[in-house]
Amino acid sequence: MKALLGIKGMGGDELSSLVDSAGVYASRVNAGERVDGTLIGVTVGTMFFEASTRTRLSFELAAQKLGAHVLTFIPEHSSMSKGETLQDTVLTVASMGVDVLIVRHATEGIPEAVHGWTARPVVNAGDGISEHPTQAIADCLTLKNRFGSVAGLSVAVVGDVAHSRVAGSLLEAIPVLGGTITLVGPSDLLPSTNLANTDEFDDMLGEADVVYLLRVQRERGAGVDDDYITRYQLGVDRAARMKPEAVVMHPGPINRGVEIAGEVADGPRSLILDQVANGVPARMAVLAAIGAEL
Ligand code: CP
Repeated sequence: MKALLGIKGMGGDELSSLVDSAGVYASRVNAGERVDGTLIGVTVGTMFFEASTRTRLSFELAAQKLGAHVLTFIPEHSSMSKGETLQDTVLTVASMGVDVLIVRHATEGIPEAVHGWTARPVVNAGDGISEHPTQAIADCLTLKNRFGSVAGLSVAVVGDVAHSRVAGSLLEAIPVLGGTITLVGPSDLLPSTNLANTDEFDDMLGEADVVYLLRVQRERGAGVDDDYITRYQLGVDRAARMKPEAVVMHPGPINRGVEIAGEVADGPRSLILDQVANGVPARMAVLAAIGAEL
């Protein structure tokens, strides 16, 4: 793999192969096995121009588990504060011998631009409202572990879909692997797609195998009010009306008391921390695929 910029355009075989590889890494890590040195001698640079807890740390852990050196670039502590441009900054870091760049940015297309500027492998760690491909791989692994397969699952994606890069990748990944998606939310927070959609959460609660909640992205201009919470929060009562085996997912960070009640986030249906845990082997799978072609 030369780069991972998005799920869009990826075939089912390629995505399944990454999810399967992530599953193998998860088993090995969970068994306490010291993972191989696939990336010994490789330097992985993380360049996050937007805040992150899960994605940056799990990329860095994944790289370390494969034997790579990790270089963490922190924009606030860099010479960007002296006026250096993004492109000059990226070229400066790449010139130090960084082999793989992991890039998050608030603007769509920046990871692709970095790939073009540096001719280095780049992994998109989230770009604006476009894509977050490694989150989708972690989520597909989480679903596969719970249900055996993504194929045949009915997934309700609820909330601020329009501003979500997580949705940008998930909405590509689930259908490619044979699942179906229904978008749920107020019309101003749903993108224009060919997917089924509704603004009535309660109407489809009993049909979904997976309720995948999204945070309202206030930093991207979306607002939340009492009506939103009344209509779209997954509280204890709504969770009780889900199918017996149905699960709750959320990419994080969660806003307790907004899109999800704390009791549901911490409850038996919740796979939220499984998603976080699977982020490490998902990123190991991606980095190993890239390392194989360095
Ligand atoms: N899901 C996700 O991207 O979380 P972070 O912003 O904490 O990386």
